[in-house]
Amino acid sequence: MRVLVTGAAGFIGSQVADLLVAEGHEVVAVDALLPQAHGGELPDWSRRHDPVLGDVRDAALLDRLLPGVDAVCHQAAMVGHGLDPGDAPDYASHNDYGTAVLLAAMYRAGVDRLVLASSMVVYGEGRYECAEHGTVRPAPRRPADLDAGRYDPTCRQCGAALTPALVPEDAPLEPRSTYAASKVAQEHLAAAWARQTGGGVWALRYHNVYGPRMPRDTPYAGVASIFRSALADGRPPRLLEDGRQRRDFVHVADVARANLLALTAPPPEGLVPVNVCSGEPHSVGELATTLAAAMGGPAPLVVGGARPADVRHIVADPRRAAELLGYTARVRFAEGVAAFATDPLREPAALPA
Ligand code: UD1
Repeated sequence: MRVLVTGAAGFIGSQVADLLVAEGHEVVAVDALLPQAHGGELPDWSRRHDPVLGDVRDAALLDRLLPGVDAVCHQAAMVGHGLDPGDAPDYASHNDYGTAVLLAAMYRAGVDRLVLASSMVVYGEGRYECAEHGTVRPAPRRPADLDAGRYDPTCRQCGAALTPALVPEDAPLEPRSTYAASKVAQEHLAAAWARQTGGGVWALRYHNVYGPRMPRDTPYAGVASIFRSALADGRPPRLLEDGRQRRDFVHVADVARANLLALTAPPPEGLVPVNVCSGEPHSVGELATTLAAAMGGPAPLVVGGARPADVRHIVADPRRAAELLGYTARVRFAEGVAAFATDPLREPAALPA
């Protein structure tokens, strides 16, 4: 099949493009080379796809690229925490407006299949069980609690300690940052487009992706890359909170395969969100310890404190991806993190002034 991959020079988009070509598909690659991610340079690994340098907000460009395309794999986005209120127009423009322009162009070109890169950030805090009240949405963590080292959220109703559980796709949406809000908006725009056009959308909610080509240590990088950069400089990884916060670290090779499976699966009716995870939850402290051991570096240091809007535990339920897409992760944590010690990373990009 012929697939338009947006964000095709990026960490995930480039590996989706590689896998599609390896499986005999044809890729039309487009990337805006956003300065925050790329410093304006085309990474070497993307040259083989001969990407069109352009922006998904450019309707005329899309009208040229879409005819003859069977499906779109929309990875282009402005990523990161989205905590600086000054960045809101950029998130809304690249992620929300960009998706709206893309969907309208797909409608004009008669392309009715979309795989959308979404994120676990749409859930906010993960799922928790209270012994007394069952499944609950925890109360937001108060600054006074965080300052006192009480990191685990408590029951909104009785204040009791909670047990973290797996987050299914029908969990309520609770975006807590501009970035998260833009990912929810992308899903809503795509769902409305699907209803109006009869198109089908798989919204892949990525958990914490790591692996080769991850951007090096920048404010936009995830914790695996931050730890690797620290260790490469001989510094200990710094654990915020107590290091026991849990995530699902999923290898980018598995994320690329989930995209391939979604692109080649029968399109769903409307928009169907699917967690893309490893199904093997680990704490941030375990990530740091495993990577430090693989790199022969210093042991992690617990520094405490939490970033605003950080969530405590967010661990995915992998069942829907297995049932609907036949996706289960293949890269185990120990193996993926050990390889990450030497994986090639993307060079630092120009940062905003
Ligand atoms: C990350 C992404 C988010 C993406 C999501 C799912 C970033 C900045 N965040 O969110 O955009 O949608 O994964 O893929 O890209 N931590 C430390 N020490 C550090 C840095 C972080 O202990 O030096 C801790 C944080 O407190 C947090 C955990 O590591 O508890 C994970 O942080 P991070 O990698 O930024 O990921 P998320 O916030 O989960």
